[in-house]
Amino acid sequence: MTLQSSVFSGLQGVVAAETRLSRVDGLAGELVLAGYPLEEIASHAVFEEMVFLLWHDRLPNRDDLSQFIAKLALQRQLAPATLELLRAAAAKKIDAMDALRMAAGTLSLNIEEADDPIQIALRALAALPTLVAAYWRLLQGKIPLEPRADLTHAENYLYMLSGIVPTTEQTRALNTYLNTVCDHGLNASTFTARVIISTRSDMISALVGAIGALKGPLHGGAPGPALDMVFEIGTPENALPVIEAMLARGDRLMGFGHRVYKVRDPRADVLNEAAQRFFTAGEQAELYQLVRHVEQVALALLEKHKPGRNLQTNVEFFTALLLHGIGLPSDLFTPTFAIGRTAGWMAHCLEQQAEGRLIRPESTYSGAVGRHWVELNQR
Ligand code: ACO
Repeated sequence: MTLQSSVFSGLQGVVAAETRLSRVDGLAGELVLAGYPLEEIASHAVFEEMVFLLWHDRLPNRDDLSQFIAKLALQRQLAPATLELLRAAAAKKIDAMDALRMAAGTLSLNIEEADDPIQIALRALAALPTLVAAYWRLLQGKIPLEPRADLTHAENYLYMLSGIVPTTEQTRALNTYLNTVCDHGLNASTFTARVIISTRSDMISALVGAIGALKGPLHGGAPGPALDMVFEIGTPENALPVIEAMLARGDRLMGFGHRVYKVRDPRADVLNEAAQRFFTAGEQAELYQLVRHVEQVALALLEKHKPGRNLQTNVEFFTALLLHGIGLPSDLFTPTFAIGRTAGWMAHCLEQQAEGRLIRPESTYSGAVGRHWVELNQR
């Protein structure tokens, strides 16, 4: 039985929420975050400014910002049970996103009964980098580091991973990255969070569901494989045969294509610009040239193999380059994406709570009809 034409496969083109948080124009290739063009705000704001903007719909003044940074810094500690769980996950070498999903559920231990939704959002946002960094160190056989309240969100995350306070350049680049990915319309993980919160479930449940949705390679799981592909290609001459072979056997190229953008993802350029300063000399400069060459070959071959689909470079391709430039291992690319997107997930939870309507679409039945019960001994 075929599906009725009224089914919007993948919910493509369906408008399922109203939001003041971000506007994605897929044909013009524009992203506006709470009224500000991405290109203008991403490299200027520290992440805490961006979060304040999303949650309060205005940029913080100097006092607001210092208070917000301080409040966030005070919420970074993990409960002992959370650390125990991370230890158990590290002993089994569980994937970092799975460990993050498991441990995010235990953040309910950080929530107090009297907490209002903003306070819960704050606790979740503050704890996520501590979770990721603690797990990463445990995986390497190292002791997790205590968060430092004198460092900003981005600085402290990098510090907790390596024990070294990051350079101004690294911090600025990470702020640009986190700002760039903090929100993006009704993407799959944000939709997941909104569905969960629309049932009047809690914000930690929404966070856990969103992390699960983000993990998949068609969404936030792409940048690690995108960089792996570049390393596998290795030299400019290999780009054409390797990518040709991938497309010929029906593989998807990670970091290309987008449900909404039919022109170049504007986030790709912002991240490319931020990445360039890490790739100015020696091997790193060669890697940068290789990445740009792979991109050009991939775009040409995508047009050849998938004509008319308008498959362009998306955010994940340059996420890989920038996070590699900052010094993060590829296993941490998607968890770092989660750290940035938590700002948007929480903001959407606040919006959905205010909206108050249960999200409950319908389905068209395509199964069997006219069946009748047959006793077990007669089947
Ligand atoms: N490589 C090769 N072919 C592709 C790619 C790709 N990256 N993306 C889409 N296509 C092809 C599909 O196979 C399909 O071909 P067909 O028409 O011959 O069947 C056609 O283009 C349309 O693809 P859809 O799956 O309908 O496009 P959709 O809008 O559902 O997919 C998606 C968007 C999931 C992002 C897709 O482009 C993809 O898989 N990209 C690779 C993974 C990736 O980079 N994900 C990160 C996205 S950004 C983010 O979520 C933060």
